[in-house]
Amino acid sequence: MKLLILGGTRFLGRHLAEQALARGDEVTLLHRGRSGAALFPQARHLIADRDADLGVLDDGRWDAVIDTSAYVPRQVKSVAAALGARAGHYMLVSTISVYRDFGAPGIAEDAPLQTLADPTVETVSGETYGGLKVLCEVEAEAAFGPRCAIVRPGLIVGPHDPTGRFTWWATRLQRGGTVIAPGAPADAVQFIDARDLAAWMLRIAGHASGTFNATGPDSPLTMGGFLETARSTLNPAARLEWVPEPWLLAQGVVPWSELPVWVPRESAGLHQVDIRRALAAGLSCRPLAQTLTDTAAWAATVEAPVPQAIDRPAAGMAPEREADLLARWAAETRA
Ligand SMILES: NC(=O)c1ccc[n+]([C@@H]2O[C@H](COP(=O)([O-])OP(=O)(O)OC[C@H]3O[C@@H](n4cnc5c(N)ncnc54)[C@H](OP(=O)(O)O)[C@@H]3O)[C@@H](O)[C@H]2O)c1
Repeated sequence: MKLLILGGTRFLGRHLAEQALARGDEVTLLHRGRSGAALFPQARHLIADRDADLGVLDDGRWDAVIDTSAYVPRQVKSVAAALGARAGHYMLVSTISVYRDFGAPGIAEDAPLQTLADPTVETVSGETYGGLKVLCEVEAEAAFGPRCAIVRPGLIVGPHDPTGRFTWWATRLQRGGTVIAPGAPADAVQFIDARDLAAWMLRIAGHASGTFNATGPDSPLTMGGFLETARSTLNPAARLEWVPEPWLLAQGVVPWSELPVWVPRESAGLHQVDIRRALAAGLSCRPLAQTLTDTAAWAATVEAPVPQAIDRPAAGMAPEREADLLARWAAETRA
């Protein structure tokens, strides 16, 4: 297959490129040459800023285009105009952040979506990210119609993750000692190994149509299952101390960023998205222990983190803050 990846050198795109090359695709990567310019010498590299000039796309035809780097609708529109009918199929990497309400479990692809007060906004932030991806989806469907697939991943994890969220838990468990386990062991959790997501996207690239939630694992997982697997896989000597949500919130602990992956109950639907459509289209996930081991091994090799696409605080909690919280929690529960 002749495959064009708009991106391909940071995280999900990097796994897409690696696997596509491994299966024998003819791969073209379009990027600015900042994130991983030396990667994939076997691929054709088109160096361009998609916000400036897409003249590098003037020549060529591709069976499938996978767009990992569109955050505002203008970027989808300009690519569609540049490629026209020379793109056989277009796949947009969107996000489950497009959904309006995470209060209830079972969010399917037809659930209500976010709207932006100002649809011309171009600043990508926690507030605008989901609404802008909705507009990217609209642009993609308008341009490519049935030759288009929209993939809405949940939290993507694994080696090369620049966000450090899941990775924080792997390294925290490795460090050992008493670890704050947030919420309750039975709370649901979802995430997908970037390599599994990439494998599935390549499987459906070029022909799938419509919209797919894409997260994992393929059978339900709880926070207890996640953190216990992390403990037993990475450091059985570590000890989990389950600290309930209300107490953590009362101490000002910030879900998702300070204790990554963890979301408060009011957003529990974020970790219970309906992925039946993707499973029916062949999505499958490797064992969690493998993702944990590989992520920890990769994290140990990282010298300088790759910059994130969206400006946000570093994921994780400082050891001193965690120790202080544990001491206060112990004092209160002893009293
Ligand atoms: N991380 C998560 O948990 C999560 C969850 C849901 C959805 N998503 C979505 O998943 C996608 C994955 O992103 P990724 O970073 O992993 O993909 P990636 O393809 O590995 O990396 C992003 C690529 O885009 C290129 N790029 C960025 N800005 C560009 C520009 N203006 N012009 C040309 N190339 C540009 C970068 O290269 P250069 O820097 O060299 O230009 C890099 O190759 C995103 O769309 C994100 O919204 C992520």
